[in-house]
Amino acid sequence: EQINKGKYMHYMQKEIHEQPESLTTTMRLIRGGACKSKTVLLRGLKDHLKTIRRSRRIVFVGCGTSYNAALASRPIVEELSGVPVTMEVASDLVDRQGPIYREDTAVFVSQSGETADTLQALDYALENGALCVGITNTVGSALARKTHCGVHIKAGCEIGVASTKASNWHFAYTSQIVVMAMLALAVGGDMISNETRREAIIDGLLDLPSKVKAVLKLDEEMKDLAELLISEQSLLVFGRGYNYATALEGALKVKEVALMHSEGILAGEMKHGPQPSNCFSCLSYLFHKHLFCCSKQQSVIQQLQARKGRLIVMCTKGDSASVSVGGSCRVIEVPHVEDCLQPVLNVIPLQLLAYHLTVLRGHNVAQTRNLAKSVTTQ
Ligand code: AGP
Repeated sequence: EQINKGKYMHYMQKEIHEQPESLTTTMRLIRGGACKSKTVLLRGLKDHLKTIRRSRRIVFVGCGTSYNAALASRPIVEELSGVPVTMEVASDLVDRQGPIYREDTAVFVSQSGETADTLQALDYALENGALCVGITNTVGSALARKTHCGVHIKAGCEIGVASTKASNWHFAYTSQIVVMAMLALAVGGDMISNETRREAIIDGLLDLPSKVKAVLKLDEEMKDLAELLISEQSLLVFGRGYNYATALEGALKVKEVALMHSEGILAGEMKHGPQPSNCFSCLSYLFHKHLFCCSKQQSVIQQLQARKGRLIVMCTKGDSASVSVGGSCRVIEVPHVEDCLQPVLNVIPLQLLAYHLTVLRGHNVAQTRNLAKSVTTQ
């Protein structure tokens, strides 16, 4: 066991730090040399791309982390494909018997490919005649067998670490976003109007492993932060746009492994209810200062400062000086990458924070309370 963990104390830590390699493996699906000829080849989908493009809508279905990865990818799939994307938590789709049509493409995202809620939603979508696409990490899983077509993420399947539920998940989230961006590129096809954007995304994908390595250098800083937050009652994470999913996923990690109350909040909802006070720490995402969304996020940051929460702002490198945060706020900088890939980088500091909080709070990183390898019951 110790050999498998190498220089790391825990599998979770190892998996977080091995993401540059897992992303490289996932990206072997990208072929091509010169920019012009760079293409994304998703063999498992190639016979179905036309049907997906002509769908009335694309429905993303998943649970937990997989749902969050799908949510992070929703804007780019909509942008490149022009097809509306709706989100479904698998159990809720089944509970509501929500509408699924023959003209829909339902995309099921699951690391294990064995999650009962997701499989039940899949049966339901199959009965309703939708084209069902599976995005999974597990070759031969029920999800892979039952869907009409799909993509294997190829993240971490060669790492034979199956002892904890945390295994593969940290790989899975970032690799799932990468595969979904590739799905967006494949479904978007080679429309001239998207050419510049497409090339920027492909370049961004190829740059990801080195940028993830750069983000992992924040490890010590995140440990310091964990020491500061160790006795907090709660961590609220605010994000918008591409980073709403980052906020949800970061909060989920803090809840499930560090066993600290945490909530991911859509920053636009700040003025509609959440009341952070002194006992809350707030992590806020500020990206792409040129975007409209960023000036709105700045106003959320000002509101958070006014409420005297312990405020931590994450922004892209070089932006901290121009961010009008002032005060005693702590700033964490991550490298900049094409917007749709930014969630891959942004979640990593939160994974590190969750890991260090878990260790410092004395919880068992290897066997997290109440978590099973895959949730095969409803
Ligand atoms: C694991 O870290 C997750 N928190 C958990 O929510 C998981 O994503 C969920 O149970 C779905 O699992 P799946 O991806 O294997 O379907």
